[in-house]
Amino acid sequence: MRIVSVVGARPQFVKLAPIDHAIRRLGVHEHLIVHTGQHYDPQLSDVFFAELDIAKPAVHLGVGSGSHAEQTAAMLPGLEAELLAMKPDWVLVYGDTNSTIAAALAAVKVHLPVAHLEAGLRSHNRAMPEEVNRVLTDHAADRLLAPTQSAARQLEAEGLASRTTVVGDVMTDVCLQTKDAVAEATNPLAGTVDTDADYFVATIHRAENTDDENRLRSVMGALQSLPVPVVLLVHPRLSARSSQFGIAVETGSLKTHAPLGYPELVRAVMGARGVLTDSGGLQKEAMLLETPCTTIRAETEWTETVDAGWNVLAPDPEEIPAAALRSAPLGAPPQPYGDGQAAEAVIAALEAPIDGKVARAT
Ligand code: UD1
Repeated sequence: MRIVSVVGARPQFVKLAPIDHAIRRLGVHEHLIVHTGQHYDPQLSDVFFAELDIAKPAVHLGVGSGSHAEQTAAMLPGLEAELLAMKPDWVLVYGDTNSTIAAALAAVKVHLPVAHLEAGLRSHNRAMPEEVNRVLTDHAADRLLAPTQSAARQLEAEGLASRTTVVGDVMTDVCLQTKDAVAEATNPLAGTVDTDADYFVATIHRAENTDDENRLRSVMGALQSLPVPVVLLVHPRLSARSSQFGIAVETGSLKTHAPLGYPELVRAVMGARGVLTDSGGLQKEAMLLETPCTTIRAETEWTETVDAGWNVLAPDPEEIPAAALRSAPLGAPPQPYGDGQAAEAVIAALEAPIDGKVARAT
């Protein structure tokens, strides 16, 4: 089979790594990578390909930033042309970004089979661009690769059960592998805080938190007020908005640091007292690394982390300090996201026949 992965934003590079490795390990399928260029800063893109040993993209569309319409529209013609030329057996799309919906749309319109990795996640908040992207991608795709049983139940409720396979979570694959690899590594935040004492790792980048001045001001205020140092890994969107609104970030307990590569992030979270975030993946990674997480949102797609007690939602910035300073749950976390072998299950799901046809070997 020829599998073409389309990626463009930071979390997709993390999900791509175990897929690329599994295809190379099996040695019977061809894997081509198309990078849309949604994320172009080296710290958000190149570093992931290098550190996670991902093959070089066959194509880079270089679309860059823009409004949702501009960015999505800029991707479509290039994706259509490249995908038609590549003639894939599967177009594999990841998660919920503008690159995901653009690739799914470009592919289905020219009758190329689309598989959606991380299908069935829902925040049930249609104001999030990611929610729109994931719902539309699920309904466009031919094969839905769900990370959990709860995601599969959601797809069933939307009439999509016949296209669904539960494969586990590929981010768990890469997180567990990286955890072992970095256990003895130097903490990358050692030059910023005393990493032998308590510290928090924070990331804030969702439009709902960054794009409203009052909201961003109160979230930053809550982080600054904690009695423990907080290292904020500054995403370009946060940097742009805080400058635009004239919000001084590095005050009180808050220290800033550039975004980290994946192994560095894992090492930093392993040593932290807690994580404060609006990221999706980081909520899960925190639990896998046995670090309590506080999610600065009203809802989460990864409900199992909340059910297990390792994640607490703090939609109101006033709730952040108490949530952050709570004690960690007793005992090891459960494993609702699989055992770290999801990438193999993804390849097996793609090898299964589609509409009576068996995917061809290359
Ligand atoms: C995107 C995804 C989000 C994901 C996040 C991970 C969508 C709708 N959102 O959000 O789901 O969690 O990636 O980071 O696709 N910028 C740079 N350099 C870059 C990329 C972006 O400076 O390499 C700045 C630009 O000012 C840009 C802004 O960040 O306008 C936002 O970037 P964008 O790609 O639109 O979305 P993210 O906020 O990164």
